Amino acid sequence: MMTREEAHEILMKYMEGEHYITHSYAVEAIMKGLAKKLDPDNVEYWGIVGLLHDLDEEQCDWQNDLTVHGPTSVEILKKEGINDPVLFEAIKAHNPKSGKKAKTNLEYAVLAADPMSGFVKAVAQIYPDKKIASVKHKSVMKRFNELRFAKGANRDYMEAIEFTGLSLDDLIDVALEEMGAISEELGL
Ligand SMILES: [Fe+2]
Repeated sequence: MMTREEAHEILMKYMEGEHYITHSYAVEAIMKGLAKKLDPDNVEYWGIVGLLHDLDEEQCDWQNDLTVHGPTSVEILKKEGINDPVLFEAIKAHNPKSGKKAKTNLEYAVLAADPMSGFVKAVAQIYPDKKIASVKHKSVMKRFNELRFAKGANRDYMEAIEFTGLSLDDLIDVALEEMGAISEELGL
């Protein structure tokens, strides 16, 4: 199993866009928060899944073919000498259009954490100071139900957190707390 440092080195090798990198940190943070509740012995590992979930973002033509997003990350990781089927399946599961359906808690968590990170960021950006510290749980829930708001953030994927036994409320709390803790890194 790779360390967080090794995972970060691989990420930096294949990802350049600042907004992709901060998104990777945000999903890593949420995944660690979810692991504290669902799999406390593997917090760093869940973080690594979040950190690497979009590794192929700038390495494949997902804009024209969404099925390649996820499987391409797996190919890159194999090329880097990583052989971790649990990680590979979770990365594919975060994009159901890859053909992989989430089944485990880890897979549901990354499926849900990915859109939630962008959603919380979108809510923060409504506020004059654009700070995550200004965002209240109930504002996130209110916007969640306004389907035109941040409509790219898939509500069904976020609600899939319920398959782990946690609630959407829990996911929102974790996202606000964990993204808030690294707000400077995220620029929020
Ligand atoms: Fe993502």
